[in-house]
Amino acid sequence: MSAYPVKVGIIGCGVISTAYILGVGRSQSIQVKSVADIREEAARSQAAATGVGFATIDEILADPSIEIIINLTVPNAHAEVSGRIIEAGKHVYSEKPLTVSVTQARELLSLADARGLRVGCAPDTFLGASHQACRALIDDGRIGKVLGGAASFLSRGMESWHPNPDFFFKPGGGPVLDLGPYYITALVNLLGPIRAVTATASTGYPVRRIGSGDRAGEDIQVETPTSYSALLTFVNGARFTLDASWDVWKHQRAPIEIYGTDGSLLVPDPNFFGDEPKISDKGGDWQPVDIAGFAFGERNRTLRTGREVADHRAVGVVDMAVAIRRGRPHRANGELALHVLDVLLAIGKSASDASAIEIESRCERPLALRQGTDENVFQ
Ligand SMILES: NC(=O)c1ccc[n+]([C@@H]2O[C@H](COP(=O)([O-])OP(=O)(O)OC[C@H]3O[C@@H](n4cnc5c(N)ncnc54)[C@H](O)[C@@H]3O)[C@@H](O)[C@H]2O)c1
Repeated sequence: MSAYPVKVGIIGCGVISTAYILGVGRSQSIQVKSVADIREEAARSQAAATGVGFATIDEILADPSIEIIINLTVPNAHAEVSGRIIEAGKHVYSEKPLTVSVTQARELLSLADARGLRVGCAPDTFLGASHQACRALIDDGRIGKVLGGAASFLSRGMESWHPNPDFFFKPGGGPVLDLGPYYITALVNLLGPIRAVTATASTGYPVRRIGSGDRAGEDIQVETPTSYSALLTFVNGARFTLDASWDVWKHQRAPIEIYGTDGSLLVPDPNFFGDEPKISDKGGDWQPVDIAGFAFGERNRTLRTGREVADHRAVGVVDMAVAIRRGRPHRANGELALHVLDVLLAIGKSASDASAIEIESRCERPLALRQGTDENVFQ
């Protein structure tokens, strides 16, 4: 295969596919050749809107020039679609969660392993400037030994703006499986793997009404808890509380707070790549942390709320493509995603069974990125 750009395909042309096509478009190392979807009209219209090629699912899987396929289907289809991609002899990079069960995830990784293929998985936000800056501070011992902290992601949910929000409220959905991957991945990047969880959960609203698109006004029966509180114990001994909810209108909590023996750190929203962390040395005032030396921190997207964010989604695919060419491990990898999934499912199981759960899986912390302001940091 020629060096760069590595050609990628996309299966799943829904809401998130535009961000990926834009993200890949910013990279010199990878290029989208074509897109496919079980609904061919969705793939045709995304191809026409973005200027990439259209393919049927069979065509994209059979295309010998495509080395990586990005799986942007819904969570319940991830295992099957990623399995087909590997069976077709291609590396797969999946949106999160990797699959909806740990057994499926293990089978997928074994299949890929047996064929010498890679599995990558979102989120890749931990590669962003704010999270890498926090990682450098922790690794440099700036807050001492990490003893614990708190993570929270609290909102009123997605049904007001997502045109097809059903899967968020069905088994396999809920705030922990949907947003938890960002938070748990960010924490594992900073602190390493988690060894135990205990959780409780509840459902704030039994019915959700779709607020936009062709189905506006339609009701969805909620079949998954929408509020969770969990206690996470890390292998390194740190203890974190985690609160995840789609039943909250307003709050005043930081996305992630980390408490060390020598200070505290406020880690920005792991849904995005930028924003300014803050550090306090031994109870001193919060000081802003400069993230300018790290890549993928510049703001490039305005949310519906008007908030400007750094969204460099797809850099995990860039890292995987460069890693394939250079024969090194990639960072947003299957073992990390499997561990994150294991923790997320254990939170759900602990809540439903009212039990404490020991986490079996482990993963390495992904290698920190060196400083630098563009994708050359992956070389
Ligand atoms: N929407 C977001 O803001 C967002 C953000 C981050 C991650 N994600 C993740 O991205 C994934 C997709 O989310 P979305 O919001 O784009 O969903 P979506 O429902 O808008 O799109 C999913 C697409 O996948 C297609 N599809 C479903 N099953 C398929 C199959 N078996 N084969 C081929 N195509 C199939 C559907 O036809 C649809 O076009 C999910 O895993 C979600 O967790 C979404």
